[in-house]
Amino acid sequence: MQPMIEIAPSILSADFARLGHEIEKAQNGGADIIHVDVMDGHFVPNITIGPPVVASIRKATNLPLDVHLMIDDPGRYVEDFVRAGANWISVHVEADVHLDRTLRYLKENGIKTGVAINPGTSLASLQEILQLADFILIMTVNPGFGGQKFIPSSLDKIRKLREIIASNGLKTRIEIDGGIGPENLKELLVAGAEIIVAGSAVFKSAMDVSEAVKELKGIAGQHMRELRMH
Ligand code: DX5
Ligand code: ZN
Repeated sequence: MQPMIEIAPSILSADFARLGHEIEKAQNGGADIIHVDVMDGHFVPNITIGPPVVASIRKATNLPLDVHLMIDDPGRYVEDFVRAGANWISVHVEADVHLDRTLRYLKENGIKTGVAINPGTSLASLQEILQLADFILIMTVNPGFGGQKFIPSSLDKIRKLREIIASNGLKTRIEIDGGIGPENLKELLVAGAEIIVAGSAVFKSAMDVSEAVKELKGIAGQHMRELRMH
């Protein structure tokens, strides 16, 4: 089956005072999903937003909200994000000692489950929970900030995970996050990435936000056409 490539602008790099408008522009450019970064100042050295902001964004768009929890002990807070209107929720494998329980809870509540993994964490840590994850979020920078440089060894990690998923006969999708833009998107798609998070490449681009999303969508569309021809 051909993969479905989706572009998920990360609002971390957007103008928070004009968030609704920024999301609308991304949506006009063809954004498939809105990626929302939640940071607690413990799991990562930065603090962002919580459930009330997610609830407001929920009213501003019909696109699925992909909530990336960069917080310690995420199991304590997932209920609040479900109630706020998240559609997809990812929790870090490094942050949750009861990952199985958290993922089962999310599934029971109709949420698409994601497990996020830091650059320094081995794919082996996913083995027991791969069956419970709708997607794996491979961090391609160390989480905490937008605008960082893509870590090149991530490419091989994506390829390896793609093989593991295929050899287990699973449908798990691969999301990538950090340092992604028009200059490196193509090789990441070839490696097997399907859900593409982009923050600064969308909201800090020299182009208009809609145009920046369109450019990424164009690269994704071209890749899917090439796959169909082979
Ligand atoms: C970083 C966040 C990302 C961030 C990516 O910890 O998880 O979603 O917004 O930003 P860019 O695309 O600028 O690297
Ligand atoms: Zn993120």
